[in-house]
Amino acid sequence: MKILVTGAAGFIGANHVYYVLGKHKDDEIVGLDSLTYAGNLETLDAALKDPRFRFVKGDITDRAEVEALFEQEKFDIVINFAAESHVDRSIEDPGVFLRTNILGTQVLMDASRKFGVPRYHQVSTDEVYGDLPLDKPDLLFTEQTPIHTSSPYSASKAAADLLVQAYIRTFKLPATISRCSNNYGPYQFPEKLIPLMIANSLADKPLPVYGEGINVRDWLYVDDHCKAVDIISRSDKVGEVYNIGGHNEMRNIDIVKLILGYLGKPESLITYVTDRKGHDMRYAIDPAKITADLGWAPETMFADGIKLTIDWYLENKSWWERIVSGEYQEYYEEMYGDRLK
Ligand code: NAD
Ligand code: TYD
Repeated sequence: MKILVTGAAGFIGANHVYYVLGKHKDDEIVGLDSLTYAGNLETLDAALKDPRFRFVKGDITDRAEVEALFEQEKFDIVINFAAESHVDRSIEDPGVFLRTNILGTQVLMDASRKFGVPRYHQVSTDEVYGDLPLDKPDLLFTEQTPIHTSSPYSASKAAADLLVQAYIRTFKLPATISRCSNNYGPYQFPEKLIPLMIANSLADKPLPVYGEGINVRDWLYVDDHCKAVDIISRSDKVGEVYNIGGHNEMRNIDIVKLILGYLGKPESLITYVTDRKGHDMRYAIDPAKITADLGWAPETMFADGIKLTIDWYLENKSWWERIVSGEYQEYYEEMYGDRLK
């Protein structure tokens, strides 16, 4: 199989590259990423040494560039992870979210149609469902839950998700969609809750908890997400939407305290700050469909995954310290210049 992974220098895209290289010894992967502030080529250092992986610096909204790549490579599977992904940034400046997340998806699907790609997979999110109340713990998102978004980020992801459904119905695009809950694990950019709290704890800096810290997210270890995407994208389930999640609901404040406890840091570092605008209260996924249809189930318990993750950040300080200092942004030019273009 030849697979295109967009957003390959980001958190989940990079983990997916490593997952597929490890799992499918005969596969080749092209990683496409425009290396925004969230893309870090250092994350792909090990993959770049593998002859089965090639990196292309490019923007998914650039139709000419994308079409040239599709013409050259003849992909069997296209998996679209590329996105602007941070809710807080979407509240500050929605424009780039609409461009990348919606128009980029359109460009990739048009190229898939034009070059007859047998499978397009859209990495969507559980945030397309909006949120659930805290006082109805039995309510979970199913694939039938209405789309009802809160932030410019989730609205842009929902628009893309609906566009994929339109291409499936109108153009018979052989596509699948997955909607996953919050991921955590190695290589997550330290602006998201878990890596930010680890990095700040280690630096003895305040841990900014929004509102009262009682918002609930349903956390999944990143490898379990990659495994699900891998299974869906190779399945015969064209046209299907799958929720991905591991029944692991946690309040933000409990995660923050757990991280502080593991690192032996004082809870006095917790600083309650003004709440996020439009802050979703609770996400909770019902993954029954993917388990029934495709036999997927999460393998990493949160208690283990969070230790693996904290240990990874402890052992890979240079990776995130270079990000926090902004140094990594010079890495691409320093190390690769225009060699990868
Ligand atoms: P991320 O921000 O870490 O990575 C996104 C990557 O996309 C970056 O490397 C960035 O450089 C690249 N990119 C951005 N704009 C681009 C463009 N125009 N052209 C090419 N590349 C571009 O995000 P992530 O957390 O790895 O999320 C990956 C995908 O998974 C996203 O689609 C996101 O919506 C979805 N998702 C994420 C989570 C989560 O918890 N992180 C949960 C469910 C779904
Ligand atoms: P985040 O990692 O941004 O993911 P998402 O908003 O997509 O779920 O945030 C996870 C939760 O943590 C969310 O409820 C907002 C909260 N949060 C904080 O309390 N403080 C922070 O500094 C950040 C980044 C998030």
